[in-house]
This record gives sequence, structure tokens and C-alpha cells, in this order.
Amino acid sequence: GKGAAMVTAVAYRLTEQARHIQQTLAEFRLSKNQLLEVKKRMKVEIERGLKKDSHKDATVKMLPTFVRSTPDGTENGDFLALDLGGTNFRVLLVKIRSGKRRSVEMHNKIYAIPIEVMQGTGEELFDHIVHCISDFLDYMGMKSARLPLGFTFSFPCHQTSLDAGILVTWTKGFKATDCEGEDVVELLREAIKRKEEFELDVVAIVNDTVGTMMTCAYEEPTCEVGLIAGTGSNACYMEEMKNIEIVPGTEGRMCVNMEWGAFGDNGCLDDIRTTYDQAVDENSLNEGKQRYEKMCSGMYLGEIVRQILIDLTKRGFLFRGQISETLKTRGIFETKFLSQIESDRLALLQVRAILQQLGLDSTCDDSIIVKEVCGTVSRRAAQLCGAGMAAVVDKIRENRGLDHLDVTVGVDGTLYKLHPHFSRIFQQTVKELAPKCDVNFLLSEDGSGKGAALITAVGCRQRELDAQ
Ligand code: GLC
Repeated sequence: GKGAAMVTAVAYRLTEQARHIQQTLAEFRLSKNQLLEVKKRMKVEIERGLKKDSHKDATVKMLPTFVRSTPDGTENGDFLALDLGGTNFRVLLVKIRSGKRRSVEMHNKIYAIPIEVMQGTGEELFDHIVHCISDFLDYMGMKSARLPLGFTFSFPCHQTSLDAGILVTWTKGFKATDCEGEDVVELLREAIKRKEEFELDVVAIVNDTVGTMMTCAYEEPTCEVGLIAGTGSNACYMEEMKNIEIVPGTEGRMCVNMEWGAFGDNGCLDDIRTTYDQAVDENSLNEGKQRYEKMCSGMYLGEIVRQILIDLTKRGFLFRGQISETLKTRGIFETKFLSQIESDRLALLQVRAILQQLGLDSTCDDSIIVKEVCGTVSRRAAQLCGAGMAAVVDKIRENRGLDHLDVTVGVDGTLYKLHPHFSRIFQQTVKELAPKCDVNFLLSEDGSGKGAALITAVGCRQRELDAQ
């Protein structure tokens, strides 16, 4: 009868809809061969970054850090650390004690950096930073101490020594004027002088990946790689000096900040980038840059999801075909929300509640689709990131002429720590794509602060030796 016909029509529409949605998501589902190809291309870009002739035009910059060894436990003293470029801006006091009962004690305060400051003038940004340091020193009662300072500055910097770093380009949410091409350590020193309230000795500029590696290496000496899977995505590792052609000297090793977020900026990932990835890029502060990071990191995953949801809604498959103001809002799906939506413990009703909180009215079907979109996008992120890491550990293995490598990777970042599936899929991918390596993953605790202090301690010791 008529009822049956209607049921069939509805069912047909549903399967049609399901087919379209699956077709849309299919582009995000990468095969093992595609991932192996990504690994291979990462290897090519690593070599281009390391070699003198190709370094200038390389997208994966492979920046020398002047960190030549991991900590050995003799580090000692009180240090100030700054952490700029992650989810929060922090000022820290780190007390490191060497000897039999070595220990690290930390005090820190989180400060907001308003968007106007992140995207204002460089002078305003550094004045704000120094204002926060001043507040912290008052709070700790240490205004007159003239402490050595390690600056974790999580952006690409061209370093010529431990305490000099020229900002190559801003990434993530920052865009302050008059900083690119400048030595960030000088900008900080000048801002401290302008304030005329206290003195500090800026000893080291540190990428967050390097801080993470050092923190983990302090506990686990086999740690020679650092990974951040958070707001941004990046890695560092101990490379042979003889392979780092832009630094003189061939003895020993130096940590290299890969800046792998820029992988793909020469078009080498175009075959796997989707129209949604392109839309995210076009909507970003730095169009055309950090293309791999835009597929892998917390700052952009929610944006990819949002672009897909907008498209599915326009095509009438979601939210009754109605694009709400919320859905048009940039940045609504923070890592925290994606993590909640994808949590297995959550019933669909709770997914709907989260969407409701964000201002999205969903049906039960909608919530199923949203959850699947999130899962597909974050799985690809974890796999792409894993393919990059597979290239790194295999490179280390080949450097050492080994058939088999045991290595530890120190990891930090909100995506890695908060997301219910990212770390598992990432690890699984590394295992599959680099079968000759046994990789142990170690979560770093407060890598940016502790690591900066450890590097500062090593820097101070080196300075004393040089002075003798
Ligand atoms: C961005 C920065 C890089 C940093 C990463 C993680 O990719 O360019 O320096 O390590 O984010 O914070």
C-alpha cells in the first residue's frame, strides 16, 4: 500500500544519503600504500632540508638547534622559563638539583595572550610578555635575582647559536608585525630593557619539540626524538653533524628542529589533499603554508570537520539542510570538543548535547554522521603524523647503519594527550610503516618548561667552560 511505498522511499533516500556521505569521507581514508608514499616523500624533504644546496628552497627546514647532547643529570640551578606558542602562555621558575637525589621543582603561572596582542605589533607582543614576567617575579618575590632564562618559542627559528634565533615565519594563530626576520632573543632583551624593572640573562631559545625531547631524555636516555601533536604539529631528533651541511663540523650529533608542519608546501601532498583541506587553508592566517600541519594538528582538525559539515548540510544531508550561524563560525570545534564527541563512552544522546552546547540543533541521525566525520578526520591526522614519524625513525636507523633500532620518542601536545584515539592510531601507523624500528613513546610532563630549563642549564655550563 501507500505506507509501504513511503517507507521504501525514505529508506532509499537514506541509503542514497549514506552513499554520498561515504563518498565524501572516502577521500580521507588513506591506504597503506598511500601512507608509505607519504613516508617516502617526507624522507625526500628531510634530505633536501639537510643538504646545503637545497636547504634554501626546502619546505621541511631541518633547523639546527645547537643542542648537542641530551641531559646527563649534572644540570643544576634555578632558572626562569617562558613558554610561548602552545595552548597557553606561561612563565615558570624551575629549580633543578643534581646529584644522587636529583630533582626538578616547578612553579608556574598561566597568562592570557589576547588575540589583539598575538596579531598586533611585535613591540606590543614582547612588552606584554615582559609585563607577564614582571608580574610573575613579583608573585615569586624574585625581582632582583637576575636569573638565567630559557625561552621556549614554538615557531621556526633560524639559529646560529643557542641564544640567537631569527623567526623564519609565524605559524598557528600568531601574526605580530615586525618579528619575521628578526632575532627573537634580541626582541625579548630589548623589551626587558624598555621596562627597566629587572634584569635577566637570556641563555637559550628552544623549540617545544626540543624541550619535550630533553625532558623525556632526562628520565630515559634512549629518548632522541621529540614530537608535538597539539595546536601545531612538529618533530625534532638527534641528527649526525656530518649530515647537517649548513652547520660547520662533522663530529657528534645535534638536535634538528624539523618544522615538518610545512611539509607539502611545495605541492608534494596535493594528490591527497581534499577540497576541504584547501578551504581550511584559504580561511587561515597563512594561506599556502603549513599544509601538513593543517591536516594533522589540533588547531585545524575542527576546521576540516566544519568544512565537511557545511558541505554536507548544503547538499541536504545534515541539519535539515539549514546552515546555522554557529556552523559558519571559525574555530568552534576545539580539540576538547572533538575529543568528547569521539569518546567511546559517550552515548549518542550526549553527542547531541555537546552539539547543542555549541549551538547546533541535531537529530539522532545528524549526531551519528558528525561523529563519523570527526572520527575519519582525526584518524587521517594520526596516520599522516605516523607516516612522518616512520620516516624519522627509519632515518635514524639508517644513519647508524642498523638493521634494527630501539628508540624512544618524547611526546607532548593536547591532541595526543586528550584525544581518545589519536595516540593509538598514530603508534599503530608508526609500527606498520617502520617495521625495523621498535619505538617506545614517552609522555612528557611539562616538556616546554622543564626542557627549556635543562637546556639553559647545559648552556650555562658550556659558557663557564668556554670562559675558562
Ligand atoms: C608549529 C611551529 C613549530 C612548533 C609546532 C608545535 O608547527 O611552527 O615550531 O614546534 O607548531 O607547537
